[in-house]
Amino acid sequence: MALIDKHVVLERSPSLLLAFSLTVVTIGGIVEIAPLFWLENTIEEVDGMRPYSPLELAGRDIYIREGCYVCHSQMIRPMRDEVERYGPYSLAAESMYDHPFQWGSKRTGPDLARVGGRYSNEWQLAHLIDPQSVVPESIMPGYGFLLNASLDGDDIGDLMRTHRIVGVPYTDEQIANAASDFRVQADPDADWDAMVERYPGAAIGNFDGQPQVTEMDALIAYLQMLGTLVDFSTFVPDASR
Ligand code: HEC
Repeated sequence: MALIDKHVVLERSPSLLLAFSLTVVTIGGIVEIAPLFWLENTIEEVDGMRPYSPLELAGRDIYIREGCYVCHSQMIRPMRDEVERYGPYSLAAESMYDHPFQWGSKRTGPDLARVGGRYSNEWQLAHLIDPQSVVPESIMPGYGFLLNASLDGDDIGDLMRTHRIVGVPYTDEQIANAASDFRVQADPDADWDAMVERYPGAAIGNFDGQPQVTEMDALIAYLQMLGTLVDFSTFVPDASR
């Protein structure tokens, strides 16, 4: 009897078939699941990554709420055309404080992983209010209504505490100062030294030109920091990862 015919033995005995199937599924499961226990290994050590500032975090929630990810990915692939267009390819470390991450493959608009600092605050504001006013052929919808939604930042500390539960290393000091940091980042006349010390590289400004803090301020603060934290002049990729 050829080896292949021995299958008959398995197929004719339900309990034997069940035992063998379970063995095969278990091996497959271990092969797929075990690497996840060493996921940390895939996150490279980089200088400059920090959790989002309170205003940026609020902006990120608005980005997700408005479904910006439906047209924009935030992941530059390591292909030459991508790197030439958008800048250095995205690192795992750059998404390590993202819950949920914003990778995605739907690109009706350009990738936004490194859009921070590429345009002025004024450009971002004009573009969000009426995209066609700065890019006439754009099919992006306008988001001017964000100007009318004020934010007081009173609950941002709770949101940061929630992120801490899933592993974002917010310190007690950062959470204690959440509401004031939130307002200070949108007010260039405030004393923002301590805030910048807590969140190096945060963009400061009255992004929407209105006295109160609005959803527009938060969204622009978020866009202006995207992809700006890692210092690529000091980063050496490790090909063995
Ligand atoms: C219907 C699809 C669509 C949606 C939804 C959308 N965008 Fe866009 N976006 C585009 C397209 C297309 C472009 C390219 C043309 C342009 O610059 O307007 C673009 C461009 C941009 C740019 C400029 C990028 C660059 O590198 O030039 C930014 C920033 C941006 N979008 C942010 C947002 C934000 C924030 C949201 C959510 C509030 C959003 N977009 C929602 C389609 C979309």
